Amino acid sequence: MATTAPAAHRCSYEDYEATADWLRSQTEQLPKVAIICGSGLGGLAELLDNRAVFPYRDIPNFPQTTVEGHQGQLVFGTLEGHQCVCMQGRFHTYEGYDVYKVTYPVRVFSLLGVRTLVVTNAAGGLNNSYNVGDIMLIKDHINMPGLVGNSPLCGPNDDRFGERFPCMSDAYDRDLIALAKQTAEEQGIGAFVQQGVYCMVGGPNFESIAEGRALRTFGADAVGMSTALEVVVARHCGLRVLGLSLITNMVVTDYESKQKANHAEVLETTLMRTKDLQGLVRRILAQMTEDPEDL
Ligand code: HPA
Repeated sequence: MATTAPAAHRCSYEDYEATADWLRSQTEQLPKVAIICGSGLGGLAELLDNRAVFPYRDIPNFPQTTVEGHQGQLVFGTLEGHQCVCMQGRFHTYEGYDVYKVTYPVRVFSLLGVRTLVVTNAAGGLNNSYNVGDIMLIKDHINMPGLVGNSPLCGPNDDRFGERFPCMSDAYDRDLIALAKQTAEEQGIGAFVQQGVYCMVGGPNFESIAEGRALRTFGADAVGMSTALEVVVARHCGLRVLGLSLITNMVVTDYESKQKANHAEVLETTLMRTKDLQGLVRRILAQMTEDPEDL
């Protein structure tokens, strides 16, 4: 497998800048926090005050979203005193986008001045102690595409974004995880908030039984089709990251089981828990201070 994409597939600094410049020409809001809304979790963007909304189709160089449950617009606004930008709909490699396009918005956010990235996703539970509807605070990830050489950092490094060999052992900010945990307790939802390892796979098919078992053996607590690539790029450009997975289904790992994973179940569970997740993110932001490195 080629580990370096043809140059045509990679995006240049000027591409990212052109997108950031266009957004700056449309709104005076300067977000410090970006929120990526996972499948069925776009309602988070509805919480923002003073909203300015930009459909992806109007934004220069932006990919288009093609998945049910993903709306396809950027929403700027304020939430609990923080200037935010929300992605209502994200991009996935299974849509046919390469890893550079999937992560394109993250570098644009960085150029806009974003310092903190909150990522949410829908995920299948692998840890036997989890239940459908649990919220998992991501403490680490296994980036399957990246491990086999399909990383958005492949190709010449652009030092204006970050260093050639970024560290990933501190990808998920431990202070933000602690804050999220404490906030969940205060909100009375601590009983169904977990902490675990998220594994990103390519999808779009759900896992076979053998794959589910293998991922669990690797140390994954939940599996999904997004997030890790965006987080790698966010860390490359120095953003701090908080990740939340909503466990929408349990991965089938038993040959006796009659269960079958499906997207309708994923969307149904997000509907059931979306208010709790939104409430959690809102309360976390209410208590979150600026990135200490910025002060
Ligand atoms: N597997 C992969 N991705 C997912 C799942 C799953 O079971 N559920 C939601 N996203």
